[in-house]
Amino acid sequence: MHAAPRPAPPAEPISGSLLSVDDVADEQITYLLDLADHYAGLRRLGALAPRPLVGRTLINLFLEPSTRTMASFEIAAQRLGADVLSLPAEGSSLRKDESGLDTAQTLAAMGADVMVVRSKEAGLQALLAERLACPVVNGGDGAAEHPTQALLDAATLRAAKGRIEGLTVAIVGDVAHSRVAGSGAKLLKRLGAQVRFVGPAALMPEGAADVPRFETLREGLKDCDAVMALRVQRERMEDAEAPDGAAFHAAYGLTYETLAFARPDAVVMHPGPMNRGVEIDGDLADDETHSLVLKQVAYGVFTRMAILDALIGGRA
Ligand code: NCD
Repeated sequence: MHAAPRPAPPAEPISGSLLSVDDVADEQITYLLDLADHYAGLRRLGALAPRPLVGRTLINLFLEPSTRTMASFEIAAQRLGADVLSLPAEGSSLRKDESGLDTAQTLAAMGADVMVVRSKEAGLQALLAERLACPVVNGGDGAAEHPTQALLDAATLRAAKGRIEGLTVAIVGDVAHSRVAGSGAKLLKRLGAQVRFVGPAALMPEGAADVPRFETLREGLKDCDAVMALRVQRERMEDAEAPDGAAFHAAYGLTYETLAFARPDAVVMHPGPMNRGVEIDGDLADDETHSLVLKQVAYGVFTRMAILDALIGGRA
């Protein structure tokens, strides 16, 4: 058994902040996905990763809750030898009305080499990228962008299907409030997939006019190779807007029955956190013959290793 070889770095190195999937060129995306595969392979073989980040410090500043994104950046950085400090919103002076900008500048002054930032509002990361001396990685900003999730989803899908080019991917549910859908659709299309949004008109985004929309799972899942379910993001809605969970499940829940509208070998994805019995059936989510949910989590670490290595590892 061999690990996928370490890819040659792209001609144009990856540098600066990662705010959007638009910040990485096609060749750089391929490099990151190949490097994620390389790290996945090392892990499979039980081999240690190299430690290009020894002496570097990653700071996680999460102004909105997170399980997967924050934890996987921590693990990824530690596997490559970095020191890590994570500041979740609950424990910080943000509770004392300090602004996100002041908190970030304070942490950066302690010697961050890279800062991963999640925020409720769109665009804080772009401001920080201008103000801070270190690169900023967008760990999700409002409903706008979540580039590292898009990269890990692409890496997981490519590992499962052997390619992305030519695949048809349906992104289902609350697309309007989802930064995962926005970044994911852009990236998958660039990699040659056909992307569709499926859901009620009220949960479709205003932008992304180039993505075909479907109002029913029966039509939207037809001929799909992958189906990505999204959480109904109630925290971004007025109470009146939020759909009833049972009614949403009846119309848009991903179950064994509705998955049958897709191709027989279709895979199921979900960025988490999942609401079982709402956007996805729990048994289907756990069924690894279809579900990539935990593979996405594992690839989240490998992909973030690749991103950190490329940004601050001093090699690519
Ligand atoms: C998502 C997020 O925070 O954008 N989760 C994640 O990062 N894996 C999706 C969500 O909150 O529903």
